[in-house]
Amino acid sequence: MPAGPHPEDDLIPEHVVLGGVALDVCRPRDLESLIDDDAFGAQEFLPYWAELWPSTPVLAEALGAVDLDGLRILELGCGLGLPSLVAAHRGARVTATDWAADALALLAGNAERNGLDLDLRRLDWFAPADAWPDGPPEPWPLVVAADVLYEARNGPALLRTLERVVAPGGEAWIADPGRPTAAGFWRAAAETWTLDLLGDEASGRPTVRRLRRRD
Ligand SMILES: C[S@@+](CC[C@H](N)C(=O)[O-])C[C@H]1O[C@@H](n2cnc3c(N)ncnc32)[C@H](O)[C@@H]1O
Repeated sequence: MPAGPHPEDDLIPEHVVLGGVALDVCRPRDLESLIDDDAFGAQEFLPYWAELWPSTPVLAEALGAVDLDGLRILELGCGLGLPSLVAAHRGARVTATDWAADALALLAGNAERNGLDLDLRRLDWFAPADAWPDGPPEPWPLVVAADVLYEARNGPALLRTLERVVAPGGEAWIADPGRPTAAGFWRAAAETWTLDLLGDEASGRPTVRRLRRRD
């Protein structure tokens, strides 16, 4: 599992307002310095977690538009984890996951800065069971992710992970900027899930697709 150099030393503080929630967060200043040749050689790992991607605000806005009080939410590939922070601020009980240990370390600090409580866990879509060595957790009514379909190989692994972590009758909300690599995932997902759009596609912004379990 990849773990690059620790970024805590060189952070930029930022005030952001997402989904109606104001947050004070820190993020790494220099993304290049986080590149680890060994981790790339082993798993083609790049520190994508350290960037604020345009799908994040769109997912955060979707979360800001509904009542989350007391809802259990799981975020996959959380990176900087802003949707998780927004959801926790709005009363959800959030588990934020990524395969990058440094992402989770930074998110722990950002949660603390904002007085929020998150459950943080290393979860690799290619081996999701390893995240819970003591047995599978209770699945979640809502699982969210932003910009996780940037490589075609992610799609099948994500779909298998969703089958494992979304509760019967539950939903997954996936924000995506329209990446061509996502097309195979949407097609495969439509065979076993009911898909629709939250919001509209007109603006050219990333969209949030909702996947609802059929079983
Ligand atoms: C493009 S970034 C998006 C980050 C964040 N969700 C956002 O929108 O700002 C992709 C994220 O997926 C994570 N990721 C990539 N492959 C993964 C895997 N196999 N298992 C878990 N997380 C993974 C990366 O570490 C990164 O945080």
